[in-house]
Amino acid sequence: MRDDTVTGLLQDDHTRLDDLIDEARSALSARAFADASALWRQVVHGLGQHIEAEEQLLFPAFERATGMTSGPTVVMRNEHVDIKRLLEAVGAALGAEDASAAREAVAELADLLGVHNSKEEGILYPRTDSALGPAGAKALTEQLRARLGSDS
Ligand SMILES: [Fe+2]
Ligand SMILES: [Fe+2]
Repeated sequence: MRDDTVTGLLQDDHTRLDDLIDEARSALSARAFADASALWRQVVHGLGQHIEAEEQLLFPAFERATGMTSGPTVVMRNEHVDIKRLLEAVGAALGAEDASAAREAVAELADLLGVHNSKEEGILYPRTDSALGPAGAKALTEQLRARLGSDS
C-alpha cells in the first residue's frame, strides 16, 4: 500500500511543500508581503522537518540497508545545504520587501528542488523501500510520518 512506503509518504510531502511554495510565489507576485512571509514560514518549517527526517532517519537507513555510504546520500546532504541557504535568502528578501530578490531566490530554490526531489523519488526512496522489504519499509515510514507535518 502506498501509505506504507517511504516513496509514497515522502513523495506526498514533496507535493505538499511544492504547493505551499507556489502559494507563496503567488502572494509574492501580488506584492502581498505579509501573506508571502506567513506562507514562507510554513515552507521553512515544513521543508526543515522534511530534511531533518531524511538526514536523521532515511539516509542512515538507506546506508545501513545498501552499504552505500558515499553515494546518493552524500549528494543529497550537499543539496540540502543549498536548499537551506536559499530558504534563508528568500526569507531575508521578504523581510526587506525586496520582491525581485525574493522572486529570484524562490525560482532558484524551485529549480533545485525539482532536480533534488526527482532524484530522491526516482532512486533513493524506491531503493530504500526495496532494500528494507515491506515490513521494514512500513516501520520506517511510520517513524518518518511522526516527524512530518506537525505544527510545532
Ligand atoms: Fe531531500
Ligand atoms: Fe525529500
